[in-house]
Amino acid sequence: MKFEQVQTIGVLGGGVMGGGIAHVLAVAGYNVVVRDLSDELIQATKDSIFESRWGMKRAVEIGKLPFDRATEAIPRISFSTELSALKDVDFLIEAVPERLDLKQKVFAEIDGIVNPDAIFVSNTSGFPIVDIARDVSASRLPLFGGMHFSNPVPSMKMCEVIYTPQTSPDTIEAIRGVAERSGKVICMVKDAPGSYGFLLNRVFAAARREAEAIVDAGIATPEDIDRAMMTGRNWPAGFFGERGGIGKQW
Ligand SMILES: NC(=O)c1ccc[n+]([C@@H]2O[C@H](COP(=O)([O-])OP(=O)(O)OC[C@H]3O[C@@H](n4cnc5c(N)ncnc54)[C@H](O)[C@@H]3O)[C@@H](O)[C@H]2O)c1
Repeated sequence: MKFEQVQTIGVLGGGVMGGGIAHVLAVAGYNVVVRDLSDELIQATKDSIFESRWGMKRAVEIGKLPFDRATEAIPRISFSTELSALKDVDFLIEAVPERLDLKQKVFAEIDGIVNPDAIFVSNTSGFPIVDIARDVSASRLPLFGGMHFSNPVPSMKMCEVIYTPQTSPDTIEAIRGVAERSGKVICMVKDAPGSYGFLLNRVFAAARREAEAIVDAGIATPEDIDRAMMTGRNWPAGFFGERGGIGKQW
């Protein structure tokens, strides 16, 4: 499957990330099929896409999304509790909860249902893609990669694109293309079996470990560390609390 052929994208799991991903894909012009487990969960996803703080309605109100683009995007998204609704998608993004066994199970389940030429990507926060793809057919492996969006998806620009030794060049180009067309800035990451967190979460976890070590050694308080990062590096928040644990005065 080449980038230019991708028209319809399935989103497996319509939670915090799945809803945001569906939103940006539809605004980018893709047809989107969201699958979740119950009508109540589907309704919650609709509310998050259309009505939430990061939803389309508010994006129009604050001038981030032109009204015409929103009205064109809305009918492009369909919802289903049935896995069979995903069978004709060209590209599938998995955003179910962060459990390796669950991701392995859902990919094995859909592998036999979805179009054999479709690209599969996981939005995992950090499990190696080769582990997630463990139970799919060998013919799907060249079509398998990762696409790590950041929350909230409509507002955060970054998307890590993760490739394994088996991900084909066409698949890598298609994943990059879908992310770029959705307005994202790409960071390329080689899958690293035995590690967790790709690039973004590994760097952040390392910084957080260092911040905790500084607190444990009595060198600085959590509040001082957060204040340093927010006012010395312009981070929007620190490690330790709401708005960096320093309240609203900043
Ligand atoms: N929340 C974040 O800040 C964030 C950021 C980046 C990446 N991620 C990753 O994105 C993924 C999803 O995280 P989330 O925060 O959106 O989780 P979430 O719990 O908000 O949403 C997951 C959704 O998947 C649904 N689901 C479970 N099993 C399913 C199945 N078999 N088929 C279809 N839907 C199913 C659940 O009902 C739920 O609605 C995780 O891998 C997470 O690590 C999360």
